[in-house]
Amino acid sequence: MGLIHEIDFGTKAATAENLVSLTIDGEIVQVPEGTSVMRAAMMMGTQIPKLCATDMLDSFGSCRLCLVEIEGRAGTPASCTTPVAQGMVVHTQNERLGKLRRGVMELYISDHPLDCLTCSANGDCELQDMAGAVGLRDVRYGYDGENHLGQTKDVSNPYFQFDASKCIVCSRCVRACEEVQGTFALTIAGRGFDAKVSPGMEEKFFDSECVSCGACVQACPTATLMETSVVEIGQPEHSKVTTCAYCGVGCSFKAEMRGEQVVRMVPFKDGKANHGHSCVKGRFAWGYATHQDRITKPMIRAAITDPWREVSWDEAIAYTASEFKRIQAKYGQSAVGGITSSRCTNEETYLVQKLIRAGFGNNNVDTCARVCHSPTGYGLSAAFGTSAGTQDFDSVEQADVMLLIGANPTDGHPVFASRMKKRLREGAKLIVIDPRRIDMVRAPHVHAALHLPTRPGTNVAILTALAHVIVTENLVDSDFVRARCDGDSFGQWQDYVSQSQNSPEAMADVTGVAPDLVREAARLYANGGNGAIYYGLGITEHSQGTTAVLALANLAMATGNLGRVGVGVNPLRGQNNVQGSCDMGSFPHELPGYRHVSMTDVRESFERAWGVSIEPEPGLRIPNMLDAAIDGTFKGLYIQGEDIAQSDPDIKHITAGLSAMECVVVQDLFLNETAQFAHVFLPGSTFLEKNGTFTNAERRIQRVRKVMSPKNGYEDWEITQLLSNALGYTMAYQHPSEIMDEIAHLTPSFAGVSYDLLEREGSVQWPCNETAPHGTPVMHMEHFVRGEGRFFVTEYVATDEKVGPRFPLLLTTGRILSQYNVGAQTRRTENTAWHQEDLLEIHPFDAEQRGVIDGAWVKVASRAGETSLRAKVTERVAPGVVYTTFHHPMTMANIVTTDYSDWATNCPEYKVTAVQISLSNGPTDAQIAYATLGRNTRQIEIAAE
Ligand code: SF4
Ligand code: SF4
Ligand code: SF4
Ligand code: FES
Repeated sequence: MGLIHEIDFGTKAATAENLVSLTIDGEIVQVPEGTSVMRAAMMMGTQIPKLCATDMLDSFGSCRLCLVEIEGRAGTPASCTTPVAQGMVVHTQNERLGKLRRGVMELYISDHPLDCLTCSANGDCELQDMAGAVGLRDVRYGYDGENHLGQTKDVSNPYFQFDASKCIVCSRCVRACEEVQGTFALTIAGRGFDAKVSPGMEEKFFDSECVSCGACVQACPTATLMETSVVEIGQPEHSKVTTCAYCGVGCSFKAEMRGEQVVRMVPFKDGKANHGHSCVKGRFAWGYATHQDRITKPMIRAAITDPWREVSWDEAIAYTASEFKRIQAKYGQSAVGGITSSRCTNEETYLVQKLIRAGFGNNNVDTCARVCHSPTGYGLSAAFGTSAGTQDFDSVEQADVMLLIGANPTDGHPVFASRMKKRLREGAKLIVIDPRRIDMVRAPHVHAALHLPTRPGTNVAILTALAHVIVTENLVDSDFVRARCDGDSFGQWQDYVSQSQNSPEAMADVTGVAPDLVREAARLYANGGNGAIYYGLGITEHSQGTTAVLALANLAMATGNLGRVGVGVNPLRGQNNVQGSCDMGSFPHELPGYRHVSMTDVRESFERAWGVSIEPEPGLRIPNMLDAAIDGTFKGLYIQGEDIAQSDPDIKHITAGLSAMECVVVQDLFLNETAQFAHVFLPGSTFLEKNGTFTNAERRIQRVRKVMSPKNGYEDWEITQLLSNALGYTMAYQHPSEIMDEIAHLTPSFAGVSYDLLEREGSVQWPCNETAPHGTPVMHMEHFVRGEGRFFVTEYVATDEKVGPRFPLLLTTGRILSQYNVGAQTRRTENTAWHQEDLLEIHPFDAEQRGVIDGAWVKVASRAGETSLRAKVTERVAPGVVYTTFHHPMTMANIVTTDYSDWATNCPEYKVTAVQISLSNGPTDAQIAYATLGRNTRQIEIAAE
């Protein structure tokens, strides 16, 4: 087991279908037209020396090391910038070229520290390799003249350092920041000898625009930009490819290791979701895996006021099983349930729902998707027949117009945001519909064509107004609708949206958006070529979340923007495996593959395989479990990898429900907020400690590979299996691949999926079965999964959560780049350097009216509760709107969110809460009491050795 080395072809692959023949060093080679001479040589196994070239970036041609001779051409052109031509005859190596290259290298080396033996890049340095490759043996110039050796290091970034004395000014870092990441944080300042890499206006990295994606570090051919972990630990010696455990983009990484210690996570170029790019979380924020706060021993306690008592695994599992049995014997079979995790693998999630349906004997299983994308599942399934996005990420490369609504990809889905920005720099147009002026509205070299700043809670109104314009201005793609959609539902929809009360003019009072902007946006989306919709939780987390998803589906069908590359309806899903947890049957009404529990044939196939009978009625959703707990009929809950006491709305209700239960079992990495109400704590394992698969937002199933043994002793699926066996329902899997085989056997859309296939193909997008053995990048190509696409009338119904004299502002919530959801992981990494606390964004007008200045403590009060945090005065939010993140438990942002929820799925209305803001002196009494409770309920009585 060694390091995985990916070949660097020096320049990007050409996409032309035409092949060109040329001769390189006497050998004939055929390559696509547009390929560089450097890449063509590499394709036949000849590596031409290079420094400024890398296949992640466009050719640049600055170092002059890759010179070649081409017969019939004067001079020695750079092979990285010279495209191949039919009949070309190239020589890559002879005495003249060798001498020229040695001359170039000599100049570089004469201004470079010769500390190779102690350099952190020793063994992984392209400069060192090239000195060897060109046969440089002497450097004639000494260090007496002017040089850069005395330059100081910039160690301001917690994850990488910049040692300017080692820089060869190849500008790979600058280009990576521009071309791959799209942040444009770096420049080459000065000219000639004075030329140097500069973050921003000669700032330190930490103080500049840099977002710590790591692209420049990866691109750097020397030790100038180097991961701090490599400096501290040394060069890695083996690696495995695995998948990021943060967001739904699903970036592939090489976990580069020494022994069982992670040295660094390097984005994998072959990763189909990220193509070698990353963000600060996946690339650097993995330190939580070995954080001292991790609980690695099981613990139990009779009452939540008791200190935790560490016990053996045997005792913990036996106790849990006996408690669940006792509860079911006393209160009935339905008195217990479970919550699956969108952070855990498909196999683990599948097993939890199996435990509940087969071991507990009821359907009381739910998942965090309940509080994020359940309307996506419901809406897309109703309109198209499948509960998932329609495209792969690569599709964006052919989008001409992007309609981005209720998503903030630069923070929430940063690697995909970079892809979007790249396409926008190439000329695609962007429409942003969002109450906030998110970064995508105006990023470096990216300006949204239109920003429609809606009032929170009015998505359905604005989407129906867009539909009104499309219908009344004859922008409907009638051929598509006629051929692909259900005519009756289209007719009803058309009649409805064309009514004058749905016009942009009539809706302007509701949405707060100028009618002209709405009309322009509709025309641009309908007429601008390939139109692709991207949306996030700003669509789903509303009382009309499902209606808004249906409205998006209507728009795409009406304009024919479905069924091919470059278009589609694309939910940007939040957690790493939220798609997978939904696919795996985590909802109380659905078995794996989104099949209703009432479907007899489906139920029977599971009953045969599992050897039990399955309840034909849906079980309880999370809010219903809590309601039932308060009513005294629901008494035991198994929660794997989910922190409902922090992430779900209306904390008072959650904590009341949890407190009313007799056995709450939390399986997690840390004593999270929910664990305060738990009686059993089962320590979980991180993604680095387990085998399995995650499914990302584009339905891509990817391997998660174990690179270290679980600190707690077991992978999470093994713990579920232990519990199941203790409950009397036997499970005997030896490896997660066997669980996947069972999933494939029972789920038609997964029928072709196996670990062997994933090993061969790298990843695969479901449906993957006999009809689509290599998966399905774009769905609904010939026809919709449900047959004909179905339109739905989307009447706007204002939320009951309304502003008034008591609560005149609208609070909406979201995430920030450096932190992740409840922050359990990211708060235990250096990412806190960027975000130590949640802040309340407030417009200067609203701030002034209340005497609020930047940094002041303010109280946020709603009809549900109140909390205090510090204010940030900014024009990113419109007057009348305030915004905060919810990454820190002390913020208790969800104490103010209400219990309103989506009509179809119960997805909470996080994005709209009427609030009042006033000055405060610091945390509220409730926040202080909560912190004290947290300290008390986290006490651990250390077992005597
Ligand atoms: S880390 Fe990323 S954002 Fe920062 S300078 Fe490097 S490429 Fe640019
Ligand atoms: S920091 Fe590295 S990538 Fe950037 S110019 Fe210097 S040597 Fe090249
Ligand atoms: S974009 Fe998402 S999946 Fe990719 S590295 Fe960042 S957090 Fe991980
Ligand atoms: S690698 Fe071609 S000029 Fe630098």
